[in-house]
Amino acid sequence: MASSSQIKALLNSYADQDNDRFFAVALQVAAKEAQRGHHKVARDIRSLVEKLQHSQSQADKSQQPEQPTPLVTPQGELEELLEQLTPAVRRNELVLPEQVSSRIDGVIHEQRQKAKLAQYGLLPSRKLLLAGPPGTGKTMTASVLATELQLPLYTVRLDGLVTRYLGETASKLRKIFDQIAATRAIYLFDEFDAIGGERAQSNDVGEIRRVLNSFLQFLEKDTSESLIVAATNHPDLLDKALYRRFDQIIQYPMPDTREIEKLIQNRLVAFSLEQLNLSEAAKAAKGLSPADVTRCCEEAAKTSVLNGHPVNTQRLVEAFQERNTHR
Ligand SMILES: Nc1ncnc2c1ncn2[C@@H]1O[C@H](COP(=O)(O)OP(=O)(O)O)[C@@H](O)[C@H]1O
Ligand SMILES: [Mg+2]
Repeated sequence: MASSSQIKALLNSYADQDNDRFFAVALQVAAKEAQRGHHKVARDIRSLVEKLQHSQSQADKSQQPEQPTPLVTPQGELEELLEQLTPAVRRNELVLPEQVSSRIDGVIHEQRQKAKLAQYGLLPSRKLLLAGPPGTGKTMTASVLATELQLPLYTVRLDGLVTRYLGETASKLRKIFDQIAATRAIYLFDEFDAIGGERAQSNDVGEIRRVLNSFLQFLEKDTSESLIVAATNHPDLLDKALYRRFDQIIQYPMPDTREIEKLIQNRLVAFSLEQLNLSEAAKAAKGLSPADVTRCCEEAAKTSVLNGHPVNTQRLVEAFQERNTHR
């Protein structure tokens, strides 16, 4: 059975002649039924929606033959709230300790095998909270997921959501979550602390609390096939109520020496490294984030290109030391 809020949403979208939203809600009802093990009902609803969507798109085509609307490009207000990126970051570029790596691989694997899981009434992980210090690869992970799963990546503009639309944020969030249900993609709520901060610590407590509560409600209700990735540099600031809404919470640590070596090798793979003592260089990078290590490698590589010499240990160590003193 659809919930009363879903029926209201259906009626509202009918009244607004908002077909996309109508279909998105219907598909959410189907997903909910599937979750409850009512697979036949879920299938029936889905095929009805597909039939309706098909006849709708035929009707649209006959009305506007040369203006097909690309499904994945957010329109109107959504355009200001969602930024579409087309990253090409491969899984093997991301350097993480084994236990973190295997969780990312697990998410990718479950997504690729979601049809198989569905046969047993199981759902793949798709609501992820990534937590850890700046520059450890959280944003990069969203790009990797998009690349590996061949899905579009949308970054939610939290600044716009929270400040510019003060007071209207719930309706903006609703639009975002409608889009999440309508278009399967990766949706990244980056620097999530902006809305996820401990409620009582904010100056603007009322507004932040409303935003956070709406977000939590939407997140909980969402039964779409999209991946929702929230990233934060300050997990300790997050309200504990948030945690149980996510399928997985993945902690990003600072790299150890082995990972630093790997980062250096990865970044400098195109350069000649015969004058580089990898372990000595890596030692000097202790305490730096992967983002810092990568940047220092780029500086050393530039020097090497401009001087016409291979990348040398001393130049790289200097870059690391320089950055370490500015931390
Ligand atoms: N774990 C990592 N493995 C490889 N490169 C990384 C990693 N973390 C960060 N980087 C490099 O630093 C850049 C910035 O990292 P980012 O993903 O934005 O960090 P965060 O979102 O955790 O602050 C990345 O684009 C990449 O070049
Ligand atoms: Mg980031």
